[in-house]
Amino acid sequence: MKRIGVITSGGDAPGMNACIRAITKAARANQVEAVGIYEGYKGLMEGNMTSLDVNYVDEIVELSGTVLKSARSKLFKTKEGQKKAKAQIEANDISGLIVIGGDGSFKGANLLSENGIPVIGIPATIDNDIAGTDYSIGVDSAINIVAGTISNIHDTARSLVVDTPRVFLIEVMGRHCGYLAITAAIAAGADYCLIPEVPYELQDMCSHIENKFRDGKQYSVIVLAEGVMNVDKLKKDVDKILNIDSRISLLGHQQRGGTPTVFDRLIATQMGVKAVELLLEGKTNRMVGIVAGKTVDHPIKKGINDKYKINQDLIKAYNISIL
Ligand code: ADP
Ligand code: F6P
Repeated sequence: MKRIGVITSGGDAPGMNACIRAITKAARANQVEAVGIYEGYKGLMEGNMTSLDVNYVDEIVELSGTVLKSARSKLFKTKEGQKKAKAQIEANDISGLIVIGGDGSFKGANLLSENGIPVIGIPATIDNDIAGTDYSIGVDSAINIVAGTISNIHDTARSLVVDTPRVFLIEVMGRHCGYLAITAAIAAGADYCLIPEVPYELQDMCSHIENKFRDGKQYSVIVLAEGVMNVDKLKKDVDKILNIDSRISLLGHQQRGGTPTVFDRLIATQMGVKAVELLLEGKTNRMVGIVAGKTVDHPIKKGINDKYKINQDLIKAYNISIL
């Protein structure tokens, strides 16, 4: 194996750069050149790539986002796109490709593998919605941002005394997975959290908040995972039931930025090293993951077809944390 290609694809996530660094170094340690492909599958089809230098990658370990840039490409999903990608991989003498991204990017990697290209997927998404790994790169950084924002809201909420109790609704990213929302809610002491995986009754939630008001708490923070419902609709319902004028905070894309946490940099490094190892062992169409602290690998289809399950211990901890 002479050259390994690496791309970052789909939604960017803090810690992707630390992973690029690990791949570059692990490849070099095995006398293999690491090639960074720009702009995800788009750049792959265009042959937009550069050799990665070990000194350069040391400078990016603590940077958020991805220096290779990411992209979404419809063309790549077509036969024509696949042909272009394969032609570039062959023309550039790349013997294996590591794809850092979410489940969409894994589907693309799977397609490349069916076309005879050795590929390994590394899960990176603040949604943490990929099965086969406890953590995807980026989610820990995002939890810290969301928890920090909840704490900021607590600062003002506990300071300003008003005639009627106040409710703050915070919409958090995560599409179909509530991991980001529920972990931040526990860590920052939110009063309630709505996620797609747990059925809810708005009336029950409002009774819970009312009880807290009755017990003397003058404000409540409700965290809403974006996949559950529109936050404007939630406001309308909550305001009606509680007869209040709640306040909305949309955290948006700031959740995907900020300095990657040490934890994200560590798992990114572990998984990058493992991905290179797998390619050198001649493995293909696998994904890597972190399970119970250990670096593991599975068929990439696990990350594509299975659903990430939120650990029941986490739900139990949440149920206690909101009391
Ligand atoms: P993520 O990897 O974060 O889930 P996307 O779903 O946007 O992000 O996927 C990233 C890219 O992966 C897409 O723009 C597309 O090029 C490729 N991709 C997604 N789904 C497929 C698919 N079913 N087949 C082939 N390629 C895909
Ligand atoms: O998948 C990561 C994610 O940040 C989701 O949590 C969010 O819904 C989506 O991407 C936003 O995507 P875009 O950057 O295209 O608006």
